[in-house]
Amino acid sequence: MKLDKRIAIITGAGSGMGRAMAQEFSANGATVVAVDVRDEPVLETVKLLDDGRSVAETADVSVRADVDRVVARTLERFGRVDILCNNAGVLDDYTPAHETTDELWNRIMGVNITGPFLFSRAVLTPMLARRKGVIINTASISSFVAGGGGAAYTSSKHAVLGLTRQLAFDYGKHGIRVNAICPGAIQTGMTGHLLTPEGRNPHVDAAIAATPAGRWGKPEEIAHMALFLAGDEADFIHGAAFAVDGGWLLP
Ligand SMILES: NC(=O)c1ccc[n+]([C@@H]2O[C@H](COP(=O)([O-])OP(=O)(O)OC[C@H]3O[C@@H](n4cnc5c(N)ncnc54)[C@H](O)[C@@H]3O)[C@@H](O)[C@H]2O)c1
Repeated sequence: MKLDKRIAIITGAGSGMGRAMAQEFSANGATVVAVDVRDEPVLETVKLLDDGRSVAETADVSVRADVDRVVARTLERFGRVDILCNNAGVLDDYTPAHETTDELWNRIMGVNITGPFLFSRAVLTPMLARRKGVIINTASISSFVAGGGGAAYTSSKHAVLGLTRQLAFDYGKHGIRVNAICPGAIQTGMTGHLLTPEGRNPHVDAAIAATPAGRWGKPEEIAHMALFLAGDEADFIHGAAFAVDGGWLLP
């Protein structure tokens, strides 16, 4: 069991990749603190784990008080945080910049980059005290290229990579490893509408068709990478960005 007795906070655990990570981590012995802004789905995740250890927390990752409460309760309950997966994220529906309202911009930035910052900041002090910890950020192919979202989404995911690298640089020597996973097109709650006739996005369809894999990815294919990065076998990996994208970034 690769994560035996580890305590892992996973955000966005009510759906998609976050739920798949929770399942993979729990099956490998971890106790999961499953966090989501929606309570029913995250309770359902913990029910699915059925491990008698993991717990659900309803919290908005973009709200400092929510984040601090989840970390404080985790420390009270379990004494430490071994792993943080900053995975919650929202898409901007490919909105171009001139149509992006302040509200949309602030929401995308709030969830996608302020959230990972707030959660990282909250766990870093207890991780520093133990000189041990792993942070995994769900970035995106949109951390590298345009077209996977609109202006706000692409900007936010570029920022996630910047945060990953700076944290890895600052904290690696203190025993804390920070890395990013950059998924390609993965079939989840976020992207379900892109598979409907009304929701199709020609750029996304063409990009997927052009990949060597030629298909959508599955949430568990991201969770496998998260499990590897969370475990001791990844001990030499700091500040890396792993594309799990079927080859989207190749051309
Ligand atoms: N699906 C893709 O193709 C794709 C590709 C690249 C990157 N990503 C990234 O992967 C991550 C997971 O996305 P997914 O595809 O599994 O999406 P999803 O919509 O299936 O799951 C995201 C979860 O995050 C939760 N969430 C949203 N806002 C939140 C908030 N403020 N606080 C707490 N939880 C919140 C949602 O309720 C949802 O349960 C995101 O960061 C996303 O940007 C997705």
